[in-house]
Amino acid sequence: MTNRKKPVILGVTGSIAAYRACDIISKLRKENIDVRPILTKEAMEFITPLSVQTLARNKVVTDMFALPEEWDPVHTSIAQEAGLILIAPAAANIIGKLASGICDDILSCVVFATKAPVLIAPAMNEGMYRHKIVRENIAKLKDIGYKFIGPIKGYLACGHEDIGHIARTEDIVKEVKRLLR
Ligand SMILES: Cc1cc2nc3c(=O)[nH]c(=O)nc-3n(C[C@H](O)[C@H](O)[C@H](O)COP(=O)(O)O)c2cc1C
Repeated sequence: MTNRKKPVILGVTGSIAAYRACDIISKLRKENIDVRPILTKEAMEFITPLSVQTLARNKVVTDMFALPEEWDPVHTSIAQEAGLILIAPAAANIIGKLASGICDDILSCVVFATKAPVLIAPAMNEGMYRHKIVRENIAKLKDIGYKFIGPIKGYLACGHEDIGHIARTEDIVKEVKRLLR
């Protein structure tokens, strides 16, 4: 097993697919990859920081304004240490914020402050995914070098099969290993 030095910063957002972050963390840990999770406020409506922290064996960051243990701001220190930023699942909202330069939470600030590669695994209802603005946002982010994996066709929370399902864990892990510095 390779002992990788730089961590993957895993941003989890407010999607019904947020539970899949736990599987992704477990599989990355099995690959001996250090995972530092960030949960948005909305992600915590779907999964708990305790589960994520336990699986990752690392502190979960949820709050930009929590008093840092060291003097330096949390978002810039995380951004600097990152080997890769993976957002999985990525809701339409975070994609829109990144495409518009909105930095109003810890995850968007970390992404904007980092020099590490960014990999995004969208998950959303097919109508949201096909929305012109979402398509344009994804194209804009691809244009500046952000990588995307999925979504794929699958069973959606709204009760039918269509595009919008988060990519398979194995494929996400494979892409992380390819991009991780
Ligand atoms: C039950 C439920 C499931 C949701 N699933 C998704 C989803 O899969 N994808 C998505 O883009 N938004 C989804 N949303 C809406 C997001 O939670 C909402 O846009 C939120 O503001 C995202 O915030 P974040 O990007 O800061 O995490 C869902 C909302 C609810 C109530």
